[in-house]
Amino acid sequence: MTEFRRLRVALLGAGAVGSQVAHLLRTHADELADRAGAALDLVGIAVRDVDAPRDVELPRELLTTDADQLIVGADIVIELTGGIEPARSRILEALNSGADVVTANKALVATHGPELFEAADQVGATVSYEAAVAGAIPIIRPLRDSLAGDRVHRIMGIVNGTTNYILDRMDREGSDFAEVLADAQALGYAEADPTADVDGFDAAQKAAILASLAFHTAVPLDAVHREGITAIDAQTIAAARGAGYVIKLLAVCERVADGDGEAISVRVYPALVPREHPLANVRGANNAVFVQAEAAGDLMFYGAGAGGIQTASAVLGDVVSAARRHIAGGTGVGESTRANLPILPVGRVQTRYQITLEVSDRPGVLATVAGILSDGSVSIATVEQTVISEGNGKPGAARLVIGTHTALEQNLGDTVDRLAASGVVDRVVSVLRVEGD
Ligand code: NDP
Ligand code: HSE
Repeated sequence: MTEFRRLRVALLGAGAVGSQVAHLLRTHADELADRAGAALDLVGIAVRDVDAPRDVELPRELLTTDADQLIVGADIVIELTGGIEPARSRILEALNSGADVVTANKALVATHGPELFEAADQVGATVSYEAAVAGAIPIIRPLRDSLAGDRVHRIMGIVNGTTNYILDRMDREGSDFAEVLADAQALGYAEADPTADVDGFDAAQKAAILASLAFHTAVPLDAVHREGITAIDAQTIAAARGAGYVIKLLAVCERVADGDGEAISVRVYPALVPREHPLANVRGANNAVFVQAEAAGDLMFYGAGAGGIQTASAVLGDVVSAARRHIAGGTGVGESTRANLPILPVGRVQTRYQITLEVSDRPGVLATVAGILSDGSVSIATVEQTVISEGNGKPGAARLVIGTHTALEQNLGDTVDRLAASGVVDRVVSVLRVEGD
């Protein structure tokens, strides 16, 4: 039998993900040692409450509330507690004491990534975070390593399992938002505070991480335009379905021409996706990331975007890599942000839109609406009118669904404001971007 060097692994957190990581580290210990070239000894698990019920049974003697003590002398620290503090301080403490760090904490990587990477560089260690974006799907390593020789032009991804689960059930069953959110929470997909999911914060964090890697540019979280899905109701979903679209919360990261140079745009919003697009068929809590690169062409990464055991797979992949590096020595691979491309505000982004209006059904209304769009440099591609109530002698009400050609977001926003104030529009029902045509 091979005598392996033994590495001390400290685990912080034994929740949905951490408990599965602990379980796999223990039950697959021999296989993992063969692959890592080192025995991975789980020396302790830091939690808040050692008596809390766990998804899997863990030896009581491994549990501790003293995370700081556990970190001392560890070769690899796995951070699965979530949040900014004390996770950030503990990761810095681990790096400074010579450990490699593995984390799934997208909130932390998106807000303090550069600080953590710099700290790791200083001591020749690594911070790995494959599980931070899209759960089990390998996407960090492909962007950072496999595509390092290519030029990524665009990423369009479904990177939040909770919102995809909600939108998918609303689309397929006509279900109510609140009811399906409760189910997503019960299934363990949602963050501790589900507004992180439904308001798009979680997806924005992941978009910032993906864009930073894809475009070799540090993308701060506040440069990501973010909208959530709480305004999407059953009627909007049904209208999208009728028009041949499905609504998905998308993270869009793209490289665009900007004068003589290039810039990037990073945004998260619910968008209409044609039903025949590969992203339209991403079901339940699954995630998918569609990458367009200059030489590689179109690539699609698909799989479980959330869930304890699935995410544990990505965490353990990082642990094995960290162990190999720890044994081999040498410095880790740093993050490259040298391109330092400017980040465009959303107002300068160009997309297609679908505008749904309720108007009074009388002569001249359509002409007025068309005139306002034309004045705003928004070109109409399609118009569909449905009568929603007869007027019995007075003007009735109609619903106008207007598809636009590509328009500048700033022009579109101003134009919608003018439509709302025009006197011929009773209600702006929705304004949705169309992506993936
Ligand atoms: P949970 O809330 O299920 O578990 C968190 C764990 O951390 C619990 O065991 C908790 O202890 C422990 N903990 C929290 N704060 C502290 C603290 N200050 N000191 C010590 N222990 C602490 O979270 P998840 O497992 O769902 O998520 C972990 C990380 O993985 C997060 O960053 C999350 O964003 C990320 N992630 C999660 C995914 C998922 O599907 N769940 C998917 C991808 C990433 P106790 O049990 O005693 O309360
Ligand atoms: N709450 C997140 C989601 C977990 O729903 O995708 C995975 O990051």
